[in-house]
Amino acid sequence: MPVRVLDRLEELYAIGGGDGANRIGGSAEEDQAHELAARWMTEAGLRVEVDAAGNLIGRSGTDTVWTGSHLDSVPNGGKFDGALGVVAGIEAVERAGTGAVVAFRDEERGCTGSTAFVQAGALPACFFELHIEQGPVLAEAGAPLGVVTGIVGMVRGTRTFDGIPGHAGTVPMSRRSDALVAAADYVLRVRDVATAIDGAVATVGRLDVEPGAVNVIPDRVTLSVDARAPDAERLDRLARELELEPDFPLDPVMLHEAPRAAFRAELEARDQPVVELPSGAGHDAAVLALAGVPSGMLFVRSLNGGVSHSPAELSSSEDIALAVEVLTGALGRLAASD
Ligand code: HGY
Ligand code: MN
Ligand code: MN
Repeated sequence: MPVRVLDRLEELYAIGGGDGANRIGGSAEEDQAHELAARWMTEAGLRVEVDAAGNLIGRSGTDTVWTGSHLDSVPNGGKFDGALGVVAGIEAVERAGTGAVVAFRDEERGCTGSTAFVQAGALPACFFELHIEQGPVLAEAGAPLGVVTGIVGMVRGTRTFDGIPGHAGTVPMSRRSDALVAAADYVLRVRDVATAIDGAVATVGRLDVEPGAVNVIPDRVTLSVDARAPDAERLDRLARELELEPDFPLDPVMLHEAPRAAFRAELEARDQPVVELPSGAGHDAAVLALAGVPSGMLFVRSLNGGVSHSPAELSSSEDIALAVEVLTGALGRLAASD
């Protein structure tokens, strides 16, 4: 049981205080997490470097296969999202004696670090991301780990609704142009459009009302849209029907057979069930896969009904121990085949 992995997850979780993980991309808390991870990479005997985008990389010297994830979190996030892939990656690279591990910057707000990494062009021969499932499938299947088949596509953007500011007490209802009422109609439309498209989801996670006074009719509302679908056709339909100009599009992507086969072989070698499943969450691995890097993802069972992006996020130490073993084996297997 890699107690060190669990202790390190606790140390990261404590950064920023408050309820849950609070290491927003670009924040001092994310920097603090990177400083901790750099120390752990050094302790693992890795050569540590930071690229121009602030991504943290630990190299063993034979860096054909890379692994890693992100250390930033959503507000009041969970203990495992992103952090597990970095901490377990350091452990696996040290145990395998091969590979490199990377902590990408600012994944949650739009894969900023991994996008800059692939644009810089020095791409690894292969990439693995270990991540919690963030859903109920593996728990319902009774499987501690899962092999990811593909990653959902997403379009994220903002919409703005303008109204006419006015006195909340003196403007008759018949003569109002209330920006928040228009925005409310749109939020319901987001729900209805996504519900009507099989496999699609969409969320309005943030909504800002101006001027934001209790006795002023809102004159501007800006809201976020995060819409996702398993294929390009449904993704295009979502963006079209929501009249959304995406500022963060990420195409759906199938993951590569070589990493998937390595994970399957490692699971079979341990008489573990092999469950293959798609990811409804976005990941840095999608950015690398879309850039042509043979990429694979190994999911760890999420408990508590699969909740994530919440302090209730939970995976067991037994499943994490098995995941570190499988990731270590897969690193060595692919490095040997390279
Ligand atoms: O939003 C996502 O799917 C991921 O957690 N960044
Ligand atoms: Mn994540
Ligand atoms: Mn996340």
